[in-house]
Amino acid sequence: MRFCVVTFGCQMNVHDSDWLARALEVRGWERVSEDQARVFIVNTCSVREKPEQKVYSLLGRLGDLCGRDPDAFVAVGGCVAQQVGRGFLERFSFVRLVFGTDGLVRAPDALVRLVGDPRARESLLESSETFVEREDVWSLPGPAPAQAFVNIMQGCDNFCAYCIVPYVRGPQRSRRPEAVLAECRVLVGRGVREITLLGQNVNSFGLDRGGTGVGFAELLDRVAAIPGLERLRFTTSHPKDIDPEVIAAFARLPNLCPHLHLPLQSGSDRVLRRMGRRYDRAAYLGIVEALGRARPDMVLTTDLIVGFPGETEEDFSQTLDLVQAVGFQSSFSFKYSDRPGVAAERMGPKVEPLVASDRLARLQNLQNSITRKCLKNCVGLQTSVLFEGLSRRQARGEVFWRGRDPAGRVVNVPRPESGPELTGRMMQVRLVEAKKHSLLGERAGSTW
Ligand code: 5AD
Ligand code: SF4
Repeated sequence: MRFCVVTFGCQMNVHDSDWLARALEVRGWERVSEDQARVFIVNTCSVREKPEQKVYSLLGRLGDLCGRDPDAFVAVGGCVAQQVGRGFLERFSFVRLVFGTDGLVRAPDALVRLVGDPRARESLLESSETFVEREDVWSLPGPAPAQAFVNIMQGCDNFCAYCIVPYVRGPQRSRRPEAVLAECRVLVGRGVREITLLGQNVNSFGLDRGGTGVGFAELLDRVAAIPGLERLRFTTSHPKDIDPEVIAAFARLPNLCPHLHLPLQSGSDRVLRRMGRRYDRAAYLGIVEALGRARPDMVLTTDLIVGFPGETEEDFSQTLDLVQAVGFQSSFSFKYSDRPGVAAERMGPKVEPLVASDRLARLQNLQNSITRKCLKNCVGLQTSVLFEGLSRRQARGEVFWRGRDPAGRVVNVPRPESGPELTGRMMQVRLVEAKKHSLLGERAGSTW
């Protein structure tokens, strides 16, 4: 059966979609582009209103496609599916499967059943009290990707005032450390050289009921020790939970990459308190300094929200100030968006949309100038690049390959058309030019 997956949202969703696609390929299905597919899988995100709206406009379009082919149908999964539930089945006749975040694991078999029984419709919306293990989908022939993601927990217990995640992904459930290690070993054995450990709040790994006494710092030690693993990363971290042992791990573990994504959200203590983040500017700066001492080449990235209910111009200027002081390499910044049922929905006063847009533009201007400076400072240096695939930008006579340096910066490197494929290869590269969001490099050695 020919299928396609459309993914909205975070790294977690991208990883979930990738697993689902592989699980279907293991069952003999073929992943194709949207215009050739007969089964459309939509993995949704409800963290902000915009991606949620996009789901509905996509469903409208897919409904037209299904109208022309009676065997085609749509499956909707992820956070919006968890919230809306069977409503999707009731509202759209061409939707034949809804699966929630824990139901994902049963989606491949359900899809196979639905193809076999054209009148059937199913929903997989139950939540589990423990971490939901998934089948190993790495037995497929073919080259392994250069890098892979490994889930170490599901859900989140933090209930930050703006965030819908704990409501749709459920409470935090840590995975058994042995299961994490086993998956990492399989991946490295198949040729993966870089692993990113994934969770909503990885620093509280092991601290829920699923914990076995192994904390996050110890997990890092154990994964980093897998022979052949050249790069280890993790995301996402909550500043209130970063343990000194994890900071020390950056100094101790040579394959732990010098990059940390550390969501700040706001630079104003008053706003941070109202967000329920449980750290302040001083604590955040303390972590930044400690990280810099552990790894002087440490690179930080962050998430920021502007226009949180009650945010004043003074609060916002505190955010600008802290962004400047930390000098984030890059950041994702968002306008606050009201989500149903979260604490901030009932907080006021709401910030005028035009004021929020103006703040977002000012913040992004500042970030762009900091990013430019950070990237310019790299020019002239030599670094190792792990190649992930072809660059989006190509030029005649040469092939551009895209990879990342240890700090996660994107580096594009040209190679003559006749040269070998670089995906999965690690190479020494000299950085020669800074672009807006990436670097241009050239091979440092004499052979490819
Ligand atoms: N409005 C705007 N941004 C949000 N985020 C989470 N919830 C909201 C919301 N209601 C942002 C946070 C988080 C990132 C994944 O999305 O910055 O870190
Ligand atoms: Fe949302 Fe806060 Fe949990 Fe992150 S830590 S997923 S922002 S509730």
